[in-house]
Amino acid sequence: MRHKIIAGNWKMHKNAEQTEDLLNDLIDKLPPDVQVEIIVAPTFVNLASAVDHLEFTNIDVAAQNMHQAESGAFTGEISAEMLKSIGVNTVILGHSERRAYFHENDALLASKVNSALEHELRVIFCFGEELKDRQAKQHFSIVENQLHDGLFHLDAKDWGNIVLAYEPVWAIGTGETATPEQAQEMHAFIRETIRSKYGSDVAEGVTILYGGSVKPDNAKEIFSKPDVDGGLIGGAALNAADFAAIVSAV
Ligand code: PGA
Repeated sequence: MRHKIIAGNWKMHKNAEQTEDLLNDLIDKLPPDVQVEIIVAPTFVNLASAVDHLEFTNIDVAAQNMHQAESGAFTGEISAEMLKSIGVNTVILGHSERRAYFHENDALLASKVNSALEHELRVIFCFGEELKDRQAKQHFSIVENQLHDGLFHLDAKDWGNIVLAYEPVWAIGTGETATPEQAQEMHAFIRETIRSKYGSDVAEGVTILYGGSVKPDNAKEIFSKPDVDGGLIGGAALNAADFAAIVSAV
């Protein structure tokens, strides 16, 4: 069901010891009684220790990616079932860095989503336009196509395990944030697009996060928008004080 989420995507940062240190720092600094779900996504090698470390806290652990197959000759890959087996219940799919550097397209992502849902993993599905798309005023159609090709094969009941993360590529890691108005405009469009396919219950029930250079000083304004249900945080998630400030801004 729709609720507030702040998720930290650690990308390829933090070795084993640094992961423990950052988790301890987060446990120290995160506000205790917040009405927001808090998620961190460390690297694959540190997921199991993070799950153990956070067992008695209100912080959940997500993976940053997974392979779509059950198992097999896919050197270097990790399956949904493997994630479940170490206590991970959420996976980020479709991040723009996966799309850009590892050539993940919507058809592949659709099969990853299917595999995740079959294993009862919740999916944080990322999508968003590039700068050239926005300059060409194609951003709405690009986003609509990403939703259509990545997720619209699902049944309405599957949407209980889907969280969306709208991340305009031009705002990721660049220090350039979408204005709160741009974020709201796109989030409202996304909800409307879902409504026209699945109806109001699904559209109102889905949590839509914003991602792209969210920092302590711009978080509050972005999160104040009615269709923005929280954030997927990159750079600022690597600093416990900044991440805690962003959690407090929801
Ligand atoms: P950023 O990254 O906050 O560093 O822009 C966001 C993301 O990649 O999810």
